[in-house]
Amino acid sequence: MIKTAFFDTKEYDKTSFEQHGRTDEIEYKFLETKLTEDTAELARGCDVVCVFVNDTVNDAVIDKLYSYGVKLIALRCAGYNNVDVEHAFGKIHVVHVPAYSPYAVAEHAAALLLTSVRRIHKAYNRTRDFNFSIGGLTGFDLHGKTAGIIGTGKIGRIFIDICRGFGMNVIAYDAFPAKDSGIEYVSLDELFARSDVISLHCPLTADTKHMINEEAIEKMKKGVVILNTSRGALIDAEALLAGIRSRKVGAACLDVYEEEADIFFEDRSGHILNDELLSRLISMPNVIVTSHQAFLTEEALSNIAEATAANIMSYFTNDGICDNELCYRCGKIHECRKERKERCF
Ligand code: NAI
Repeated sequence: MIKTAFFDTKEYDKTSFEQHGRTDEIEYKFLETKLTEDTAELARGCDVVCVFVNDTVNDAVIDKLYSYGVKLIALRCAGYNNVDVEHAFGKIHVVHVPAYSPYAVAEHAAALLLTSVRRIHKAYNRTRDFNFSIGGLTGFDLHGKTAGIIGTGKIGRIFIDICRGFGMNVIAYDAFPAKDSGIEYVSLDELFARSDVISLHCPLTADTKHMINEEAIEKMKKGVVILNTSRGALIDAEALLAGIRSRKVGAACLDVYEEEADIFFEDRSGHILNDELLSRLISMPNVIVTSHQAFLTEEALSNIAEATAANIMSYFTNDGICDNELCYRCGKIHECRKERKERCF
C-alpha cells in the first residue's frame, strides 16, 4: 500500500477519495490540519503528501518532508503557486491535476457574473423576507457588452464560449496567445480600456501578482465588473476597494482572495473577522464573495480523486514517470526530459 498523508481534509474530499481514490492500492491518512512547518511531522512514514491550495509547501516544509523520506507531493488541484517547485527539484517530485473540470470554474464565473449584474443576491434576500419591491435592482444586459478575458487556457476559453453565448463581444490578453483560435487578442491596456466585464483566468506568478492594481483600475471603464475565480493575489484588494468606493468599479465578484488561507473553507460565523479589508469588501452591496468554491462540483471532485490517484500510481509503478509532474525546468531548457518520457530528475 502506498501511504499518503492527506492534508486539509474536508468531508467532501473523504467521500470522493474513498469512492474514486483507488483505496485498494493507496492508504490515505486523512488529516484535518493544513500542511505547515509545524504539521509536516505528521507525514513521517508516508510515501506521499496530498495537498490543496492553502497548504504551505515552502522550502522549509519541503526539507522536512524530504528528511522524512516523502517521495511525492501530489497536489489535488491545478494551481501550484503555494509550492516552491524549484526548491523541490532534486528532492521530491511534484505532481498536480492540470484539468479536472474547467467547466466547473468557468460556470461559477458565469454564475457570479449573472448574480451580480441582475442583483440576484439582493433579490434572494428580499423575497425571503416577503419584500417584493424591485427598487434598486436595475441591472444591465450582457448582450452587446465587451468581456475582457485575461488568460485563455482551459478555463478562460470555456468562459469565452459562455460569454459569446450571451452575445457578448470577447477580447482577450494572454502572455502566450493561442494561434488560430479565433480569439481577438489585445494588449492589457486595451483590454482594460474596452471591457465592460473583466475576468481573470491566468495563473498567479511573479509577473501576474497584483496585475489588477490602482494603475490598472485607473485605465478601466467606469462601472466595470471584475471577476476573479483564479487566484486572490492577482488583485491588489486595497486598490479594488478604493475603486469600488470611488464608483469606478461597478461590481466585483471574488471566489478567491489574497489572504484567504486562514479564512476560506472554514465556518467563521459567530467570530469577529480580523481581516478588515475582507470585511469592508463583503460589506459593499456590489461585491460578491464566494469561498474558493468554483471547483466544487460532483464531476470535478470525482475527477480530482481519480486523477490524483492515477498520478500517485503512475509515479510508483511507472519508474517515477508521471505526465502531470511539475518541474520548474520543464519548458525552459532546450531538451525537456519529461518530453522524452523520462523522470525530471
Ligand atoms: P491553463 O494553464 O489552462 O491556462 C492559463 C492561461 O494563462 C494560459 O493560456 C497561459 O498562457 C496564461 N498565462 C500565463 N501567464 C500569463 C500572464 N503573465 N498573463 C496572462 N496570461 C498568462 O489554466 P486553467 O486550467 O485555465 O486555470 C487557470 C487558473 O484558474 C489556474 O491557474 C488556477 O489558479 C485557477 N483555478 C481556480 C479554481 C477555483 O476553484 N477558483 C479551480 C481551478 C483553477
